[in-house]
Order: sequence, then C-alpha cells, then structure tokens
Amino acid sequence: MASNKEIKESPKLPFMDHYKIMWPFIKPYAFRAFLAIALCIPIGALDAVVALALKPYMDIVLVDKSDHSPAYIPLLIVAFTIVQGALNYVALYMNEWVGSKIKTDVKRALFKKLLALEPAYCEHNDSGFILQRFSTDVDSACVGLMDNVRLFFSRICSSIALVGVLIYNSWQLSIIAIVVLTCALLPLAKVRKMIKGVVQNTVKENAVIVTHYNETCAGNKTIASYNLQKQIFDKYDTTITKLFKLTIKMVQKTGWMTPMMHVAVSIGVGGVIGYGSYLIVNGTITSGNFVSFITALIMLYTPIKNIGKNFSAVQVSFLAIERIFEILKLKPAITDKKDALTLKGIKKEICFKDVCFSYVPGTLVLKNINLKVKAGTTTALVGNSGGGKSTLVNLLPRFYDISSGSITIDGKDIRDFSLSSLRDNIAVVFQDNFLFSGSIRDNILMGKANATEKEINQALEMAYLKDFVDGLEQGLDTEIGERGTLLSGGQRQRLAIARAFIKNAPIVILDEATSALDNKAEAVVQKAIENLMQDRTVFVIAHRLSTIRNADEIVVLNNGQIAEKGTHEELLRNEKGAYSALYNAQFKNAV
Ligand SMILES: Nc1ncnc2c1ncn2[C@@H]1O[C@H](COP(=O)(O)OP(=O)(O)O)[C@@H](O)[C@H]1O
Ligand SMILES: [Mg+2]
Repeated sequence: MASNKEIKESPKLPFMDHYKIMWPFIKPYAFRAFLAIALCIPIGALDAVVALALKPYMDIVLVDKSDHSPAYIPLLIVAFTIVQGALNYVALYMNEWVGSKIKTDVKRALFKKLLALEPAYCEHNDSGFILQRFSTDVDSACVGLMDNVRLFFSRICSSIALVGVLIYNSWQLSIIAIVVLTCALLPLAKVRKMIKGVVQNTVKENAVIVTHYNETCAGNKTIASYNLQKQIFDKYDTTITKLFKLTIKMVQKTGWMTPMMHVAVSIGVGGVIGYGSYLIVNGTITSGNFVSFITALIMLYTPIKNIGKNFSAVQVSFLAIERIFEILKLKPAITDKKDALTLKGIKKEICFKDVCFSYVPGTLVLKNINLKVKAGTTTALVGNSGGGKSTLVNLLPRFYDISSGSITIDGKDIRDFSLSSLRDNIAVVFQDNFLFSGSIRDNILMGKANATEKEINQALEMAYLKDFVDGLEQGLDTEIGERGTLLSGGQRQRLAIARAFIKNAPIVILDEATSALDNKAEAVVQKAIENLMQDRTVFVIAHRLSTIRNADEIVVLNNGQIAEKGTHEELLRNEKGAYSALYNAQFKNAV
C-alpha cells in the first residue's frame, strides 16, 4: 500500500538550482519563456497609469470645474486598458505554450525513465506513487515554473509601479500605507511554514487514493469472493477521512488570514483618510492627489496579497521539481555495458556457474547454482514452491542481476551482451502473461512488429488459436480488453504462446505456462507449447509429467539449491532421491 518514502518538508536546494535542474527542458523555449515573463513589466506598470490619471482628472475637472477639461483622460484610460489586456493575452498565451511544452517534454523524459528502470522498481513502488511521481508532480512543477513566476513577477512590477504612484501623490500618506501593509503581510511569511506539512501530507494521501482505486478494479473478483467490501471500504475511508482532516486543517491555518488582512488594511485606509483630510485642508496635497492615492492603495492590495500566495505556490512546485530531479537522476540498475556485444543466437551452451542471488540483501534465494544446458535441449525445473525456479529463469533475460557467480552463453557473460539483443534471443511465457489492451493482432505483433499475414496465421495455428479466431466476427481485429480480460484463461495463454512463437527466439522459457488450466484446456495449450519448444533451447517449469519426462535434463531445485539432476529414468532409479519423493507425491496420479 502507501509508500513509506520520506516526504520532504521544504525545498533543500537554493532557489536558482531549481531552474538549473529544469534548464535542459527550458532551454529549447528559453527565448519565449523570457519574453513571456518580460511582458509582465509593462502589464504591471500599466496598472499604475489608471490610478495616476485620476489626479489631473480630479484636480482639473472636479475641483476647478474647468471647461477646457481634458477629454483625453477617459479615452486614455480605456486605451491603456486595451493595451494592457492585449499584452496580458499575449503573455498568458506564451506562458501556457512554453509551460505545456516543457511539461510534455518532462513527462516524456520521465516515461522513458520508467520504461528503462528494472522490474524491481515497479515491484517496490505502488501505482499511486508512480502516478504521483511520474505525472502529477510534473504538472505542479511546471505550474510553478512558469505560471506562478509570471504572476509573481507581474504582481511585483505592478506593486512597484503603484507604490510609485503613492509616493508621487504624498510621501507622508505613503509612510502610513506602507507601514500598515507591511504589518498586514507579515503573518504570510509564517503561514507558509505552517502549511508545508499539510501540503506534503495531502500529496502523499492523494497518491494512496489512486492505489485504492487501482486495487479495487484489478482485484474486484478477489474482493467479491472474499467479501472484502467492508474491509477495503474501511481502508479507503481512512484515507479519505485523513484528506478531509487535512483540508480542514488547511482552512484553519489559512482561513483567518484574509479577514485579518482586511481589518489591517481598513485600519490603513482609515488612517490615510483621516490624515489625508488634514493634509488637503492644510493645502499640502490636492484632492486629486488624494483620490489618486486611495485608488492606488486599493489597487495595491490585490497584488500584494497574492504575492504571498504565489510565493508559497512556487515553493510547492519547487518541492515537486526536487522530486522530479530525484527520478531523473535514478540510474537503472540493469543496463548495457559500454561496448556491449550483440548476441546472435546460441551455438553451444548456457552455463550457470556458482550463481547466487538475493532479492533482499542477506537472504539468499539461489545458492551456488551450477548448471550446463546444451543448445537445443530442454531442461525442466521442478521442486518445492518458493524454491527459486522462477527466480532462476528470470536471471537469464536479466530481469534481475545475479549477486555473484556468472551466467554465460557460449562462454560470454550475459552482462556483456546488450540487453536488447539478449532479450531478442529469449521468448518467455509466464503463468500470468500480460496482454495489452488492443486487438488480438496487436498482441501477436508485439512478438514481431513486421510479421507477415502468413507468419501470423502460422503462429495462430501453432498456438491452437486458429479455430477460435476464425469463429470471431472481427477475427484478428477483435479487441481483448485491458489485460486481455475479454478472453478466457486458456485463450490468454495461447495468445501469449502465439506472441512468443512469432518472436522465433532460440531460447524459450516456459514458467508454469499451463498450470492454471483444467485438463482439457491444458491438453490443447500443451500441444501449442510442444510446437513452441521444437528445435530450441528450452527451460520449462511445469507440473505436467509428460513435459518433464521428455526433458533432456530434469533439475530439482529445493530451497534455492540444486538437489538432484538427471533424466527422468536416472532420477527415478534413486528411490530415496528428491525427484522420486516429488514424483510419488505430485506426478504419479497427475497423468
Ligand atoms: N520480486 C520478488 N521480490 C522479493 N522476493 C521474491 C520476489 N519473487 C520471489 N521472491 C521470493 O523468492 C523465493 C523464490 O521464489 P520463486 O522463484 O518465485 O519460487 P518458485 O518459482 O520456485 O515457486 C520465494 O521465497 C519468494 O518469496
Ligand atoms: Mg514460480
């Protein structure tokens, strides 16, 4: 369930480092990004023009009642607003464009990383965590990177311009206004710290929620058959209640700010009006100055209030950038060597020499495995459940790398070959094969992208799928649903066999490919498997005696060690041996 990964409380890196991390992604659009932010200067500054224009208007028109009143002032206000609106649109457009471009590029890079990471990565992190770290984080990072920086910058510009208007109109009133505004804004700095924990926990719990939904869909039959509805609901309820409490906590921590700031600002405005009236009467400032001042002051309130908000948003997205960086710098544990060789088939043998392996450091799952497999032969692996059979065959395509010893193909360590050429030479059929949403054809072509229609038909025949596919209205183009849920277990396995067959790889691994089937279905799949095994080097883990009996060598793997090996007859001769025991317990009545 929920990942226990530590959630950081605050950005650790210096401010500009976040831009350094993102620079490779910003670089292609740097000019446009710069332009989008630079446009904020005139946009912010134009705010002040409206307030400034009120002074001559007031003094000349309202107070002097002069008949040569400047008619250009209302026109100018409209004109400026139009210019500002147009600039705003361009800035917003460019900002969105650049932001979305960067976001798309980062997501591409992260998805590539996800594909490059070893299987263990996905085993140790749940789906909610993956979605959070590889997708949602990018959204929040990019919002902060462009949007909030733009807003932050334009608000700073407009604040500076408006403060200019204040000072221009009356420096005495400006002092009152600035002191009051500063006092009103001080709590903002504290609040940011107070809410950080809440924000981070919300992020974490939201990831857990995604995992709940995924598990409920993927495991719906298990839930139904064990009547787990209440239990699963309770788990979900715990998370959603936590989220509710976090939301409320957020309101408790921040909700008082706005009313309090309003009060502080009203004190400021009150002070300004009181002292302002005195200054007018006494002739220090004109009424135009006064109106212009009050307008600028009121206009100033919005950007200043939001600067704090923007600033926390930027902090939140910087946290996301740091998390993205952690993922970007992850090095896949299983990679190609520098001058990796290309594996082109197998001529002589595959050799396991003193192979030890552990998933968790300290717990050996395979101990000193020594095994020689001649090209073109079939090796059957039998033994107790959890004995390490699947683990052993998973080492060959390097789903995991061994802890010590070596695995060689024709005398060359498998780690010397490129991963892609190694895996090109191995076809694996698992017990629970993964099929992708799409058509039957799509899934078969995953074995060989450029297969001809003839090859596809041959694969169908070999996998005993031809009759089934011919009977379908849409034939090969029938959609099979997510994970192939619209097919039966046997059909899924035969489709996986067809996919492995068309790959035409010299090495074949069959890991309990038939164990989940009933006898009749198994007999059909068994024939398909025998077709797949012809003229190849095969590792087979099976419960079915016939497969095992015909194997060139049978290896009994108990608790991570090879207990015995030999042919069926050889092994049975040793009546006290591990194979005889297994045979008597398991296989004798099976066929
Ligand atoms: N992905 C994994 N991570 C950690 N431990 C695992 C993993 N897969 C299997 N194991 C452990 O390794 C041991 C061998 O498992 P496995 O090779 O699947 O056995 P078999 O296929 O012979 O039944 C078991 O104890 C199992 O719990
Ligand atoms: Mg297994």
